Amino acid sequence: MDINALAQTAQALVAPAKGILAADESSGTIKRRFDSISVESTEQNRRDYREMLFTAEGGENYVSGVILYDETIRQNGAEGAPLVEGLQSRGIIPGIKVDTGAMPLAGSPGELVTEGLDGLRPRLAEYYELGARFAKWRAVITIGSGIPSAKCIDANAHGLARYASLSQEAGLVPIVEPEVLIDGDHTIEADQEITEWTLREVYAALALYDVALEGTLLKPNMVTSGSTASNRAPATEVAVRTVDAFMRSVPAAVPGIVFLSGGQPDDEATLNMHEIASRGMAVNAPWQLSYSFGRGLQALPLNTWLGDPANVPAAQKAYLHRCKLTSAARQGAYSADMEKDLAASN
Ligand code: 13P
Repeated sequence: MDINALAQTAQALVAPAKGILAADESSGTIKRRFDSISVESTEQNRRDYREMLFTAEGGENYVSGVILYDETIRQNGAEGAPLVEGLQSRGIIPGIKVDTGAMPLAGSPGELVTEGLDGLRPRLAEYYELGARFAKWRAVITIGSGIPSAKCIDANAHGLARYASLSQEAGLVPIVEPEVLIDGDHTIEADQEITEWTLREVYAALALYDVALEGTLLKPNMVTSGSTASNRAPATEVAVRTVDAFMRSVPAAVPGIVFLSGGQPDDEATLNMHEIASRGMAVNAPWQLSYSFGRGLQALPLNTWLGDPANVPAAQKAYLHRCKLTSAARQGAYSADMEKDLAASN
């Protein structure tokens, strides 16, 4: 394992002003996204949609890396060259989702455990050959009546540690993603408590498995009220509780924390990113605070594209708009007024 190479990749992924585009929707998830715009989820439509995002001129100013799905890392663009080459030529680092999904945890109704460790070593070696330099594994923690259980957090932390260790062995930076889901009516206090508990267990497991933290990134949820909670906490409180939670539980050797958007409306995710980054700067947080958004960057371009090639320029413009705002937010330089820029430029 070349820890210097891993650390360099991890740092490049959280370079100033930049973050990650998560475009690794599984077959089921991308079908749901396409259903929402009445587009059939064929291999070519998935390719055309993702190629539209990857080739947006100037995207590389805001996006350091893209997380791909297994199909996409093997796909050629419309002109015949691999999509991966297009990303590399723009200086964007290709990454890959390597878990095989969250499945029901035996004996724990309502809880999930992420699978994908079987055969992972050769898969990681192949992804490295295909150009990937980082790998993502998503674990899911659900807040509900009597859950999460210690068993669920332990099982998911174990999976994350095993995958992280195998990724580093293969020369891939693990993006460790323990997502405490926003679904439900829980309070922000409960979310903070469960997030801290989860992170403590995850870092204990990473230590047990000798994962070199300098060559990793963390991809967590922001600490927020549940999506259906009444009186949801404002962005300023989200920021304080999020940064407090991470200061208590994430070692300083981790180069960066890249937040998922987790189904928040894109403007809400961007505002929260701005407040969190500002708070991080105010308290001298030891890690870069950045983004690894899926829906937060894609909702607007997806709804502009609508599967019509004629909409590609407008969809790319919409994508770049979200990238620019989220990059500003990551630097603590976003204001809600900037949301109007896209309409103004049309
Ligand atoms: P969202 O930003 O849409 O939550 O997606 C990020 C991701 O990669 C989830 O695994």
